[in-house]
Amino acid sequence: MNNLKWWQKTAVYQIYPKSFLDTTGSGTGDIAGITSKLDYLQKLGIGAIWLTPIYKSPMVDNGYDIADYTSIDPSYGTMKDMENLIDEAKKHNIKIVMDLVYNHSSDQHEWFKESRKSRNNPKSDWYIWRDAKADGSAPTNWRAIFGGSAWTWCEERQQYYLHTFAPQQPDLNWENPDVRHALYESANFWLKKGVGGFRIDAITYIKKPKEFVDGDPDSKDGTVAVHTMTANTPGILDFLHEFKREVFDKGDIFTVGEANGVSADELKNWVGVNGVFDMLFEFSHLVLPFTNGEIWCYPREWKLTELKKALSDSQKATKDNGWYPIFFENHDQPRCVNHFMPKGADMIKAAKAMATILLTLRGTPFIYQGQELGFANVAWDSINKYNDISSHGQYELALKEGFTPEQAMKFIHFFSRDNARTPMQWTSGINAGFTTGQSWLPLHNDFDKCNAEIEDNDKNSVLNYFRKLNNFRKQNETLLNGDYKELLKDDESVYAFSRSTENSKIYVLVNFTLNKVEFSAEFLNQSNLIFGNYESNDKGILRPLEAVVYEEASK
Ligand code: GLC
Repeated sequence: MNNLKWWQKTAVYQIYPKSFLDTTGSGTGDIAGITSKLDYLQKLGIGAIWLTPIYKSPMVDNGYDIADYTSIDPSYGTMKDMENLIDEAKKHNIKIVMDLVYNHSSDQHEWFKESRKSRNNPKSDWYIWRDAKADGSAPTNWRAIFGGSAWTWCEERQQYYLHTFAPQQPDLNWENPDVRHALYESANFWLKKGVGGFRIDAITYIKKPKEFVDGDPDSKDGTVAVHTMTANTPGILDFLHEFKREVFDKGDIFTVGEANGVSADELKNWVGVNGVFDMLFEFSHLVLPFTNGEIWCYPREWKLTELKKALSDSQKATKDNGWYPIFFENHDQPRCVNHFMPKGADMIKAAKAMATILLTLRGTPFIYQGQELGFANVAWDSINKYNDISSHGQYELALKEGFTPEQAMKFIHFFSRDNARTPMQWTSGINAGFTTGQSWLPLHNDFDKCNAEIEDNDKNSVLNYFRKLNNFRKQNETLLNGDYKELLKDDESVYAFSRSTENSKIYVLVNFTLNKVEFSAEFLNQSNLIFGNYESNDKGILRPLEAVVYEEASK
């Protein structure tokens, strides 16, 4: 246990500040709201908070469009509030982890305002500018991740600029050393303020190919996902090693990169001794419902063995090199009870079952706000109720692909990022105690049953299950560092694995179906039940959605 670093021995809690707690009545959450909930977070047993962006932003993508990397958006408070949060969190043994969004800035950043003015100003090549094709159309047929062309025309410069995401999020030109050093400087600004780490956004897109060419269309409108054309372009690691030397190596921090597009066999170049980051968020277990890259309107059924394989592959890939960030939710994903569990599931059982896996795999668990209370997806009746920019893009795309508005809404209900962004539910009172004003996004209508106040007082709640298992895990060498081995590999109903050290063993079994399943359980003969989402368990039988953790009696 002693050879593990601090961030390998604790869970991280992700906060989406806009939806966490509003202390001013503005309708959006703020930094002071987070500070006021540190006792709650400490009781949950977490050691770090990953804050999604709180920097100055026009909020087209809720803060992932940054207009100034070293100032706080006034809707969240002031730099004093931020410093206070860092200090108070420290007193609770919690570190603050910042989100670095360096593939792109906001189009309202001073750098872009300057860059767009002309082709020869001092910042003219801080972004990615190209001439139109001979017919005036965009330089390539690339489609932005949020839909539409990845190129937007700029009248002033008479050129197009590239944006992997929304037009208001122009991509920075990492080929320019001045850009890179300006970004490093702003990250070091936060290191000096005492933050405990960084989550690095959309990092696989920072390097662009030498030649910009059209790709084979993957959509009826003749476009191809920009991801296919630019993700993980060779040469990217040179930038990242420089980033590491200039920033990451300077503190006792952890880094986790968001790395859509890095495959398991490339992982060794990204994490661990020869890599750049401590951990990498990869998405192999989250993309199972997709058939076609980033497109939501062609979902597929997936099998449990596929999910098990994805998780086991990641465990294997990080066994001796790097470290795995375990996550089933974040601010971009549906709620895990809907994502992974069958329709009609008992949501409390389902939430505890997913928590059981999250907190017993090998790695650092990331708990996303509300997950510890068992939050589920919403399903609003009109696209106009959705705030998420990508939901709007995907809705338009589905219509273009020939789906009806009703069908398109089904995809939105399942995949919308707003599923994860509905406000936190603190109490059964007005607006669930989130705000005294008008909430920026509707609340989930289950808040009178599912909230922190009620769950705090219910020993069988999802919240208390999280607390118990997470605090147990922190002290348990087997769960922290024991070897992982998958069991019952071909079973399409049960995910089972063991964690073991030389003289200890823990078994985890989760039934992903609504049926009772039976299996031969000799391997559990010497073991006792230590956690479960039912009161007791008969060895060899798992009831619907039953999750159990067994510990072998010491030898
Ligand atoms: C990442 C973020 C997502 C954001 C995008 C653009 O994928 O997680 O929320 O919209 O990058 O910055």
